[in-house]
Amino acid sequence: MFSRSAIRTLAAPSSRLFSSSSARQTKVAVLGAGGGIGQPLSLLLKSDPLVTSLSLYDIRGAPGVAADVSHVDTASEVNGYAADQLDEALEGVKVIVIPAGVPRKPGMTRDDLFNTNASIVRDLAAAVARVAPTACILVISNPVNSTVPIVAATLEKAGVFDPARVFGVTTLDVVRAARFLGGIAGAKPSDTPVTVIGGHSGATIVPLLSQSSHGKAVDGEAYLKLVNRIQYGGDEVVKAKDGAGSATLSMAYAGAKFTNLVLRGLNGEKGVVTPTFVKSPLFADKGVDFFSSNVELGLNGVEKIHPIGELSEAEQGLLEACLPELKKNIEKGKAFVA
Ligand code: NAD
Ligand code: LMR
Repeated sequence: MFSRSAIRTLAAPSSRLFSSSSARQTKVAVLGAGGGIGQPLSLLLKSDPLVTSLSLYDIRGAPGVAADVSHVDTASEVNGYAADQLDEALEGVKVIVIPAGVPRKPGMTRDDLFNTNASIVRDLAAAVARVAPTACILVISNPVNSTVPIVAATLEKAGVFDPARVFGVTTLDVVRAARFLGGIAGAKPSDTPVTVIGGHSGATIVPLLSQSSHGKAVDGEAYLKLVNRIQYGGDEVVKAKDGAGSATLSMAYAGAKFTNLVLRGLNGEKGVVTPTFVKSPLFADKGVDFFSSNVELGLNGVEKIHPIGELSEAEQGLLEACLPELKKNIEKGKAFVA
């Protein structure tokens, strides 16, 4: 289904979802595999040639999803685990993707999900600390700006936190930005990659259009509209689904794409760079110690956090609006675990 040849521009959007230029393969777990994201994500990961084995866990329905996905004719093996089998699901796993938790309904912010999702993510992270303490953890569950600090603080409490191995998945913002800019520029999304920094909610999402040749040509009203659409793309889907949840299919695509990039880094491929929300020194002096920016992925997870580069005046303004809100979200996550 997917080509085995390498992708030239690593973090750029591509017509191919996966690349597997190196040989080592990996056991991957999906926690929340029975859900709207979990099911298509599991299917896509079954098609990733870098995944040797898939562990699918949910408090509901994972064995059924596993039986279904396991019939796909790719080499990886698939196992499903029921609610009381979390530890078994995590055994030997190198990469853990977490889409467990409730999604938004119209009128809600991502922060409104905190009360339900914070404890779900904390409890899953505690199990990871116990069973697979050296695994990379890829957090999809919202609010990402808080759930990533919750995972980090939970691992820290257990004495196993490695900042190189905890990632907030912000790839959907990158996917949307490329797609929306491509639409405006009349170009293929693969030719309109955009670096998106900050966090993953409204004003904390900061697209750096000035760093893109197509992006810097967009100005005036069109620029404001494009930034707003990238920042609030999630709301567009929540509204259209009208109470039936939030983005699942595009998120599964983005989650599979990011997982493949992490696997390529773990396999020793060089130059794998993409935005992701990690423990970061970039704005730590402003009390913002988790931040999404271009990150080089490698054998141990985070290899290098790139600086954000030059910003336009408008982007400086977006960043100023982002930082205080992001700081609040991060502190809320930390306080929950403390
Ligand atoms: P969903 O309700 O369809 O699925 C969630 C799944 O999590 C369910 O199957 C549920 O049984 C499971 N679950 C609940 N508690 C669990 C636990 N303790 N252990 C294991 N599984 C558990 O929701 P969805 O649409 O798949 O969204 C999941 C999360 O992803 C939401 O929080 C949503 O806001 C978030 N999301 C994030 C992004 C992003 O860009 N990072 C994009 C879209 C959605
Ligand atoms: C998204 O960006 O689509 C997700 O974070 C889900 C949401 O609540 O909007």
